[in-house]
Amino acid sequence: MTRDLSLVGTQKLGYNPVYCNWDAWAGHWKPKCVGKPQFIQAGGIAEKMKESWEANVEPGVKIVDFRSPVVDKLPAQPEFDGMGMDLPPDDARAIHQLITDFRKEHGRRPYVCEIGSWAGRSAIIMAKAGAQVLCVDTWEGSKNDEGCKAYDGSRGTPLEVFKRNTASYDIGYMQADSLEAARRFPDQKFDIVYIDAEHDYDSVKADIEAWLPKAKHIIAGHDFQSFPSVRKAVNDTLGGCIASGNVWRAEVGVACG
Ligand SMILES: C[S@@+](CC[C@H](N)C(=O)[O-])C[C@H]1O[C@@H](n2cnc3c(N)ncnc32)[C@H](O)[C@@H]1O
Repeated sequence: MTRDLSLVGTQKLGYNPVYCNWDAWAGHWKPKCVGKPQFIQAGGIAEKMKESWEANVEPGVKIVDFRSPVVDKLPAQPEFDGMGMDLPPDDARAIHQLITDFRKEHGRRPYVCEIGSWAGRSAIIMAKAGAQVLCVDTWEGSKNDEGCKAYDGSRGTPLEVFKRNTASYDIGYMQADSLEAARRFPDQKFDIVYIDAEHDYDSVKADIEAWLPKAKHIIAGHDFQSFPSVRKAVNDTLGGCIASGNVWRAEVGVACG
């Protein structure tokens, strides 16, 4: 297990996530006492592991050699690139809470559809909290968001940066306009729909109306405090909601105010 993790980690993350002291390994209790690991050839390893790194390894390379030159060829795990957009810590906590509350109540991980993801920051928070996330975005930026507009494209298109940022998480994506994407899904497809695209009154109202039927349990979103237009659209459309700071949520089919 540790060996597989080391090799898969080295291939996918660009570093070895597992460290072990070879001498401590030798002699630890097993049904029989084993010696120190010996060099083996790539051809002698289990099929599953072989497949996982064969693409990067020349036949005959000894496992002990994998740090160099193989590791040098692997891309290092990228730093998160927000492309000009940040998220206050309180908002991040509330998004995390949205997922943990669901898990506590339902005893399983939710399937979340996020409308408006940009660099993937909020999607990653949800994925880290245990959600499976589908991100719907045009990746063309929002009219009212200076952060999106400030990104100069020097590190790739916004979608390319998003894909790099989210590569190691359970996050999928659909590049599409919000309302057009909503038409592609059957009703109640997602446990939670999280809305954070345009922030003017008409757009938020249209997003809520289009996505409400697609949510089985919760419809939620961002900027309840920072945009009065969002607050009004949420209240007018859903008859109120629970707000945790800037993050609003409403249980589907339950009116509150
Ligand atoms: C505020 S950002 C999302 C930030 C992200 N939720 C976070 O907290 O990290 C808004 C995103 O909505 C997207 N967007 C704006 N209008 C849209 C539309 N009509 N359909 C799909 N995405 C849209 C923009 O491209 C942008 O990426």
